[in-house]
Amino acid sequence: VYVIAQPCIGVKDASCLDVCPVDCIHPSRNELAFDASEHLFIDHDECIDCGACEPACPVTSIFEESAVPEEWKHFIAITADSFRA
Ligand code: SF4
Ligand code: F3S
Repeated sequence: VYVIAQPCIGVKDASCLDVCPVDCIHPSRNELAFDASEHLFIDHDECIDCGACEPACPVTSIFEESAVPEEWKHFIAITADSFRA
């Protein structure tokens, strides 16, 4: 599963949207600790792990879950929260 981390915040370039074959990158549905309108999230129930989004991000904000840098690991949990109904 892929995760969008900190660098997206305030940039939200959206190049990732154009390359995702299953259209699973969305705004948050929930109030989060930061202004989530400035960030997009990968829905982990829909992501097919194709990896196409990772090189498309100009600020290197997208990582495979196991490769998320230590200081941004909390974005894995934030992503889960972002789609909680
Ligand atoms: Fe979409 Fe593929 Fe990125 Fe998952 S890994 S969010 S399916 S482009
Ligand atoms: Fe954000 Fe990068 Fe996508 S800045 S919206 S993760 S292309």
